[in-house]
Amino acid sequence: MHTDIHTIPTADAAPTVDHGPTVDPGPRHLPVQIAPDTFVIQDTQGEGTAPMAVHLNSMVIRGAEPVVVDTGVPTNRDRYLEDLFGLVEPIDVRWVFLSHDDVDHYGNVEAVMAACRNARLVTNWFAMERLMGSLDVPPHRWAWVDDGQGFDVGDRTLHAIRPPLYDSPTTRGLHDPTTGVYWAADCFAAPVPAGAADVEELDREMWHAGFGQMQAWNSPWAADLDRDRYRANVDALASLDLSVIASCHGPAIRRGRVAEAFELLRGIPDLPATAQPGQADLDAMLRQLGVLEPAA
Ligand SMILES: [Fe+2]
Ligand SMILES: [Fe+2]
Repeated sequence: MHTDIHTIPTADAAPTVDHGPTVDPGPRHLPVQIAPDTFVIQDTQGEGTAPMAVHLNSMVIRGAEPVVVDTGVPTNRDRYLEDLFGLVEPIDVRWVFLSHDDVDHYGNVEAVMAACRNARLVTNWFAMERLMGSLDVPPHRWAWVDDGQGFDVGDRTLHAIRPPLYDSPTTRGLHDPTTGVYWAADCFAAPVPAGAADVEELDREMWHAGFGQMQAWNSPWAADLDRDRYRANVDALASLDLSVIASCHGPAIRRGRVAEAFELLRGIPDLPATAQPGQADLDAMLRQLGVLEPAA
């Protein structure tokens, strides 16, 4: 079950990709199993360097026809591929599901598709339109599954279901009715003081506050929503009786916390707006890094 990742062609081989200065990969967090045959591949950003860190997770369903769910960020490519192909052989992967067209979700898709030659890339029409010109995967390897549709992966049918909050119009989450796992893409995110596999590891008040802030920042239009329609949308997802909610940008939410997470989600449109860091914060950060002269 080990693959030499150095033999796997990656998108870095393409001359047009420049990820800029080398990014400190930060602390190592190994994959965690969240349900039978279902694993979260963990990564964090800002851990140890910022007051709070954010996860950059992805998922794998190791069923009859293994499914890669989102593909991590390019800056974490070596670790991501090592973790992924420690869980599943490249030749066995049959599906690569992208929740949407943000780089923290499709960042290593070309490397994965190159290594997994039996895999089809599951997106939707609009995602491919938006990625056109920056993604080199031939059309005969595409599959389009839009919100509300399902696809058969041998021993189960997975359903693409858009989460109530999102930051790209192409977004679909992924529901596995056989395990009750829901991949929520950017929804249900929460910052963490350090990498955390489960929200149970977080201080409860910190989770609530961070959850609210991240949903509101990622979907600022939530404040404009018709409350009844929004709540109906949240309730429809809640009615799936989820066992685990896994998210790209937060720890897993297991059954004991699922109802609480939905209650937090229902309240997002009514949260007061909170300011994001501004130029003064950037200046302070640059001074700390020695890039900017100390203030006179
Ligand atoms: Fe996103
Ligand atoms: Fe994201």
